Amino acid sequence: EKGGFDSFMDKEIHDQPAAVRDTLLGRLNEKGELTLDELKIDESVLRSIDKIIVVACGTAAYAGNVARYAIEHWCRIPTEVELAHEFRYRDPIVNEKTLVVAISQSGETMDTLMAVRHAQEQGAKVISICNTNGSTLPRESDAALYTHAGPEIAVASTKAFLAQITATYVLGLYLAQLRGNKYKDEVREILRELEAMPDKIQRVIDNEDQVKNLGRAMAEEESVLFLGRHVGFPVAMEGALKLKEIAYIHAEGFAAGELKHGPIALIEEDLPVFVVVPSPRGRDSLHSKVVSNIQEIRARGARTIVIAEEGDEAVKPYSDTVIYVPEAPTLLQPLLATVPLQIFACALAGAKGYDVDQPRNLAKSVTVE
Ligand code: BG6
Repeated sequence: EKGGFDSFMDKEIHDQPAAVRDTLLGRLNEKGELTLDELKIDESVLRSIDKIIVVACGTAAYAGNVARYAIEHWCRIPTEVELAHEFRYRDPIVNEKTLVVAISQSGETMDTLMAVRHAQEQGAKVISICNTNGSTLPRESDAALYTHAGPEIAVASTKAFLAQITATYVLGLYLAQLRGNKYKDEVREILRELEAMPDKIQRVIDNEDQVKNLGRAMAEEESVLFLGRHVGFPVAMEGALKLKEIAYIHAEGFAAGELKHGPIALIEEDLPVFVVVPSPRGRDSLHSKVVSNIQEIRARGARTIVIAEEGDEAVKPYSDTVIYVPEAPTLLQPLLATVPLQIFACALAGAKGYDVDQPRNLAKSVTVE
């Protein structure tokens, strides 16, 4: 049951350290290598793959968007992400050298199943990342990599999302290990860092009062924007989706770099804007670019709510609120930065008196096309 929480969603947010830990469990050996016995696809086939296409819907598709950054970087395999219901209608280029990764909590989403069937007809191999044992999707796939988030009851996905991201990291790192690559040391280091993530997620949750108070105080907002860059972009999209799903507030996620190409026109006095800031220790000066974005929107009167890494002082002068999350390698940051956005949406929708577990018009799994 709800275990003392107000809602299943609230409980499932708190289940996330365990969901990530359990999804890693038994997949890392003492030598610090990945072992994926369940991946019943010939290693030679996995070595010969020249393209990966991730298909999924909703929150699972945002997990796929995070996965793309990680898999391409670690494996150097071109990776696309496509909403499952769009996939087969564009006559996609798929063949025996294509690996399709289907992500679905329920394993019953018809759009995702149809995409998988289409890919299989063209000879692609399919690995599904799924949270529900024995559901249709893993049964029809060549191999399944289960997430171990436990049953997710709330319609809006939380712990399944973090578990899906974790499983895609595991898959990406496994493929990198299998194929050998120039980032060997980095891969080993990332595996160590991955094991530290459950405790770090717990630290974000321990800080929930700050975010809950913010959510309650913002119950009357009519529109909220979310900005992010690199892996922070799908995190921003997911933050906006949570708010739409359970609080029925207009919310949009944007790539921070796209701001100047249009969305900045939306910024007006007092508009709340969440910004997911990359680590200042990261490559490519992304951090300073996102800090500039915060300055730009602040100068136009926006109320800036910034999610940044602990110790990042640079964001402070331009932030109305800073929510700090622990340090982590850039590619792993979504496991931390997403959590305050979930807590925020849950608190805000609760303050409006809505049933956060059963949002209007939505079903937990959609088994029609
Ligand atoms: C939607 C659900 O209909 O399906 C979302 O409301 C979910 O929460 C999406 O992300 C995909 O579902 P699944 O089971 O394929 O991950």
